[in-house]
Amino acid sequence: MQILKTIDEVRALVKSWKKEGLSVGLVPTMGYLHEGHKSLIVKSVEQNDRTIVSDFVNPMQFGPTEDLATYPRDLQRDAELVESAGADAIFNPEPEEMYLPNFSSFVDMSTLTGGLCGKTRPIHFRGVCTVVSKLFNIVTPDRAYFGQKDAQQLAVIKHMVSDLSFGIEIVGCPIVREEDGLAKSSRNTYLSADERQAALVLSKSLEFGKNMIANGEKDAKMVVDCIKKEIEKEPLAKIDYVEIVSWPDLENVDTIDGSILCAMAVYIGKTRLIDNFIVE
Ligand code: PAF
Repeated sequence: MQILKTIDEVRALVKSWKKEGLSVGLVPTMGYLHEGHKSLIVKSVEQNDRTIVSDFVNPMQFGPTEDLATYPRDLQRDAELVESAGADAIFNPEPEEMYLPNFSSFVDMSTLTGGLCGKTRPIHFRGVCTVVSKLFNIVTPDRAYFGQKDAQQLAVIKHMVSDLSFGIEIVGCPIVREEDGLAKSSRNTYLSADERQAALVLSKSLEFGKNMIANGEKDAKMVVDCIKKEIEKEPLAKIDYVEIVSWPDLENVDTIDGSILCAMAVYIGKTRLIDNFIVE
């Protein structure tokens, strides 16, 4: 398993693979890898001859008051997980390798990014679309793998790939959870013991909403209000948003009918966590 630091190294390696006619999977990550990332890597290894994992905390997708400086990083630990999952290389560039001092081109989207996480993170998806486009141009993979935990991101990337004709298959993978239901996230490491317990309110309240829908509730506002009430019972939790939107268009819905995404962002203490479910 190779650790590559420069764009040229990645290009040379991928060129040698393509010369042999091998297919290439890309798993874009910001590192501090967990079982959720591992499931993406394993899927890519299954579906492609070679897999590259990018491991880059992308400054462009963090707002000025967000956790860029404290975002957990551990390349050694990541390398072990990537190797054990069977991938072939990690691309771990420095920010200066990705963004030259005169960097001034961005990939932005006029739909899909205004609501949900985009409301509190207005520059986030521009940063995600820009870095993912760069990674696609550098690696030129056949397939790229994204988790459903960032459901809005998955919808945005699929739309971007179609709009800009990247010719890359986007594979969405299910949310991986801890045994007690908490969705795996690199940000879970920020939680104190009390907060870790309180964080269960995300998955539990979503489960509550999912059951309402399974039992025939069609009124989106009713489901959202009941989920919010469940979250409000937890003193350490503060709701950023709970919404039900159409999937994958992310449009507001009044009536639950057809595919929907029920998504939330909740602060547990200072840590903002997200979770969701999709009903197809
Ligand atoms: O989901 C993430 O970890 C990031 O948003 C991504 C896709 C790697 C882009 O930096």
